Amino acid sequence: MIVAANFKTNKTRTQTREYMDEVNRFIHLEKIRCEVIVFPPLTALDSFMGEVTLGVQNAYAVEKGAFTGEVGTEQLDEFGIQTILIGHSERRHVLGESQEEIAHKFNYFKELGYKIVYCVGEKVETREAGQEALMAYINAQLVGIDLEYSNLVIAYEPVWAIGTGLVPSNEDIRSIHADLRAKSSRPLLYGGSVKLGNMDEIVSIENVDGVLVGGASLYAQSFCQMIKIAEDKI
Ligand code: 13P
Repeated sequence: MIVAANFKTNKTRTQTREYMDEVNRFIHLEKIRCEVIVFPPLTALDSFMGEVTLGVQNAYAVEKGAFTGEVGTEQLDEFGIQTILIGHSERRHVLGESQEEIAHKFNYFKELGYKIVYCVGEKVETREAGQEALMAYINAQLVGIDLEYSNLVIAYEPVWAIGTGLVPSNEDIRSIHADLRAKSSRPLLYGGSVKLGNMDEIVSIENVDGVLVGGASLYAQSFCQMIKIAEDKI
């Protein structure tokens, strides 16, 4: 099981350090075997002791250079970061990243051996258009992506479920994860309004190998309880 926290544009450097200390302590004390990944904002990247894998929410496909406002691998190397989130819906729909740009970024970081948590997910109108339209949309988000890359993790995050408190039915999650499983043998995460109250149900669904949590990951204590629930499924 993989339990990942995406802080998005939340938490300061100090708050992130306190959070990492608390989660690392919990993992150590409880002898957690689940893989725990935390994606803090760029300003909070640092070197942390412990088992939590530190990932970056975004980076530019370059080592270094003249790309104002971006970070490249030279900056990530300073903190030993080897894990990146690519294709998140907020980067696709709010920041306007195209599939072509996303695939380019994927291939750049794949060549460097990064663990890539690659996100896909449909908007509500696509969901309402039926299963065929839904899978066509998701397939378009997989163009240019090596689905058997050995360090790939796929996260299914329906856009309409992100930060809304809405979650697809268990059957809908099961069905999409089955379709994704047919395309890739890599771990499949579900994301979108995962919280302590629905964690057990979600990680019990067939082909759900973990979760990517936004809002509910911001509280270290409840995130630790979510890790424990995933641990009990191993
Ligand atoms: P929420 O858990 O806040 O719905 O966010 C999900 C998400 O986008 C994680 O990447």
